[in-house]
Amino acid sequence: MNQNIPQTPGAALYETSGLVSQYMDFHYGPDIFGVPNFPAACINFLHSTLPFKSFDRCLDVGCAVGRSSFEMAKYFTHVDAIDYSSGFIDAAKSLQQNGIARYTTPTEGQLTLDCQLSLESLVSSDISNRVNFHTGDACELPKSMCDYDLVFAGNLIDRLYQPKLFLDSMSHRIRNGGWLVITSPYTWLEDYTPTHHWLGGYTDKNGNSIDTITGLSRTLHPKFKLHCQENVPFVIRETARKHQHTIAELTAWQRTG
Ligand SMILES: C[S@@+](CC[C@H](N)C(=O)[O-])C[C@H]1O[C@@H](n2cnc3c(N)ncnc32)[C@H](O)[C@@H]1O
Repeated sequence: MNQNIPQTPGAALYETSGLVSQYMDFHYGPDIFGVPNFPAACINFLHSTLPFKSFDRCLDVGCAVGRSSFEMAKYFTHVDAIDYSSGFIDAAKSLQQNGIARYTTPTEGQLTLDCQLSLESLVSSDISNRVNFHTGDACELPKSMCDYDLVFAGNLIDRLYQPKLFLDSMSHRIRNGGWLVITSPYTWLEDYTPTHHWLGGYTDKNGNSIDTITGLSRTLHPKFKLHCQENVPFVIRETARKHQHTIAELTAWQRTG
């Protein structure tokens, strides 16, 4: 784990082997209840919907174990992918290098199911090698991470210790006319984000309810313009019989200034 990142109570969770396995299954396991694979659905949607000027450089922030990064590599020639969890990044790199991965999912009590996946069944190694995985902080990205046609932040903003820091940096990272695509179920929790840094989900001092789309618009205006909003469902398997069924909102913002 990157020692420079504030250690919120939630942060350590993403380093545990249980979470790495859960995200391997979420990103590469079978579809559940007929709900399409979430990272692939997001990238397919934005590829078919947004009028890109070029498919040169993109960045996947909070990439976890890398499925959206590999999906982005189908269209973009250079993909940077960053996450602060070294457990997630190690799993993504190992899959990229070896082409296969093994993980176990809990079924009931102490019982588990052994699973194996092949990356080649999703993307060729020529394409998967376009992805450069890094461990790092979304709120303090390396200087070299700039000039992007697309930055994708999947289910990240409500897990950041200071989401405004990340959003404010985007106009320096994305080319004019390029895209910032955010998905989130807007599940703000103090374990990840101190309340005074929430973008929405609170009542202001005048008694007005501030929702996250309002907070995002205020933060990104005037440099970004909202282009579209879409509901994207996902299912994360916890055990054989217990799942999280969530509806994220995807918003696509174009840099206009
Ligand atoms: C809810 S998961 C979403 C992962 C993936 N994008 C997806 O949609 O499945 C949130 C991710 O954000 C990462 N994360 C949280 N805070 C971060 C930070 N400050 N910098 C980089 N990544 C961070 C976590 O490690 C985790 O991989």
